[in-house]
Amino acid sequence: MSMATEEPQKGPRHVAIIMDGNGRWAQAKGRPRLFGHHAGARRVKEIVRACKPLEVKYLTIFAFSTENWKRTQSEVSGLMSLFRQYIRKETRSLKAEGVRVRFIGDRVQLDKSLVKLMNDLEEATAENDLVHLTIAINYGGRDEVARATKRLAKDVAAGKLSADDVDEETLPKYLDTRVLPDPDLVIRTSGEARISNFLLWQSAYAEYEFINTLWPDFSEDEFKKVVGSFGQRKRRFGAVPA
Ligand code: FPP
Repeated sequence: MSMATEEPQKGPRHVAIIMDGNGRWAQAKGRPRLFGHHAGARRVKEIVRACKPLEVKYLTIFAFSTENWKRTQSEVSGLMSLFRQYIRKETRSLKAEGVRVRFIGDRVQLDKSLVKLMNDLEEATAENDLVHLTIAINYGGRDEVARATKRLAKDVAAGKLSADDVDEETLPKYLDTRVLPDPDLVIRTSGEARISNFLLWQSAYAEYEFINTLWPDFSEDEFKKVVGSFGQRKRRFGAVPA
């Protein structure tokens, strides 16, 4: 009798990550929260590198939410300088390693010098296609849907779009993520089981993995394990299996 041959399930093409736990990681070491964010940034680098061999073509990471402005002024400005520092330091290697970088979120409230670095990095990597890294800064799912709806309404008002033609395919064309596929897998570190306004529309059929590890401890090995375990599950998109 031969073994049943089952098609190996394909791994996730698009992984999205809520990188949580930097603050607790630092506090546990008696260090300031920003120390944790810096350690978190080093993990970002490692996880981006791990994507290609795992055939994760799209990686989207939540770096700063529309709610994060409520943190202390020193943490907010520390994070903003960390983003500037990361972009300055990493542009060359991201470009050389074939990573195409995009940013999602509302840039209007961001410092002009940061927005310039973001635009320049997008432009510098625009020809790359090996791994698509999307960094969410000043991003909120509801805010994104509201901004998308505003643009859509303007197109209707301008006669470019008919209200009767608006359906499920229309809104995604106005979202910040318009060129990206929907995430297959959303990972959140640090033991919190919440989605916190991340990719609300796009994650309708995503698998979720809530991991206890704090983000600065989330290693390439653990990432591999989580990505690998995705293949064990069957996604049915609401349908009954054949
Ligand atoms: C959540 O941990 C983390 C953030 C709000 C910031 C995420 C930023 C990074 C990982 C740094 C670098 C990113 C890039 C793109 C270079 P938390 O502070 O909420 O942790 P806590 O829940 O333990 O307080």
